[in-house]
Amino acid sequence: MQFSLRNIDDLRKALAPLPVSGDLSILKRSVAGANFLLPNPLVNQPMEGCDADPDGSPTELSFRRYARFAAGGTGLIWAEAIAVVPEGRGNPRHLWIHPENLESFRKLVQTVHRAAEEAGNPRPLFIAQLTHAGRNSTLGRVPATQHSVMDPHQGLEPGHPVISDEELLKLQDAYVNAAKLCREAGFDGVDVKCCHLYLFSELLGAYGREGAFGGTRDRRFRMTLETLEKVKKACGDDYVYASRMNGADCMTGGFDTDAELEPKYEESLLLARELTERGVTILNVTLGTPYYNPHINRPYASFPKGEGYPQPEPPIRGVKRLLTACSMVQQSCPDTVCVATGFSYLQHLAPYAAAGMAQAGLARAFGFGRQSFAYPDFARDILEKGAMEKSRSCVTCGLCTYLMRNGKHAGCPVRDAAQYRPYLDEIRREKA
Ligand SMILES: Cc1cc2nc3c(=O)[nH]c(=O)nc-3n(C[C@H](O)[C@H](O)[C@H](O)COP(=O)(O)O)c2cc1C
Repeated sequence: MQFSLRNIDDLRKALAPLPVSGDLSILKRSVAGANFLLPNPLVNQPMEGCDADPDGSPTELSFRRYARFAAGGTGLIWAEAIAVVPEGRGNPRHLWIHPENLESFRKLVQTVHRAAEEAGNPRPLFIAQLTHAGRNSTLGRVPATQHSVMDPHQGLEPGHPVISDEELLKLQDAYVNAAKLCREAGFDGVDVKCCHLYLFSELLGAYGREGAFGGTRDRRFRMTLETLEKVKKACGDDYVYASRMNGADCMTGGFDTDAELEPKYEESLLLARELTERGVTILNVTLGTPYYNPHINRPYASFPKGEGYPQPEPPIRGVKRLLTACSMVQQSCPDTVCVATGFSYLQHLAPYAAAGMAQAGLARAFGFGRQSFAYPDFARDILEKGAMEKSRSCVTCGLCTYLMRNGKHAGCPVRDAAQYRPYLDEIRREKA
């Protein structure tokens, strides 16, 4: 469904009752969290570039990507998924931090600092997203449950083994070690990620799992909360703790999902409060999973030909669902900086939605995912020119994920064609 909104009035009608504002001045203000200051509320969302070395180190292409983000002028760069153990990578091109490659991550942080400085920008906060890909790892799936929707979808036989309680306890130590390394590398904080049906996220909805990490709410939340506590104990009170969390899985039997597959906001609001009580000062709220319901997770105008995923609803409905999810959490945790997601579909009109939410107190920071690939200096244009350019905007065509799914590096072959178009051409040749 092509993007057809022409101006703020169209946007206002499309997003109602969510607020929209033509006054962007609020996006120029710094945002004070409990223990950090964002120079502005604009955020590069975590975006896997799938360009790591086999040992998990960032490469020249990774440095290029983050340097472009830092030069772009956002107040917060949320680094993509960084695995804490090798089998926790989603694929062999994912980042993975360990003592042998600490220097390469230090270089990544320095690259961001230098690029921001050279561009004359204040230094952005730089957060590392710690992850275990769980059932979504292509290196050998590590499910946490017998999942009625995902098992058939991912070709897992009924009764397949799940990660044991003992392995989960050991994994907590891996998170602690990875977080300490992130601190040494110079990241400003870490994200204990629990979204998109990766391992911790699957455990939040592990209603049928037996043992110490499933069933009751306390046990389902245990892995995320206990890991966070251990990480905080190891890294200290003077560090920033964040979490990218699912407001709901939006699938049958999923975390905090009702019979219509819409978010319930019962358990996710409790989770948000439990996280903040344990020291999380930034929450980044998302929904669904890219592996099953991408229209929920990242509303799009089109899907690459031959990929066969339908458009189950108007994408603007997906955008409203995502923005509402953040507003629910923000209102429940007013002292926390909540990052809203889902802005890329709105193209150059996104800042007006962000400003409306900021003025109404429905979110305190605004994350751009695919737009960061397509138009890395979107923030500079918003802050300095008071507008984004339509001709440079992401068109939510799905080609960034198409590159990723087909074993290439993820980026924008439309707006960053010199770098990423050749990978698309390679896939087309391979498929011919
Ligand atoms: C290629 C690609 C890679 C992504 N990598 C991550 C990731 O590493 N961690 C994460 O939490 N979300 C990841 N996401 C999800 C985005 O952060 C974001 O939630 C999603 O794209 C919706 O935001 P948007 O509409 O601004 O693109 C990724 C999305 C895409 C398209």
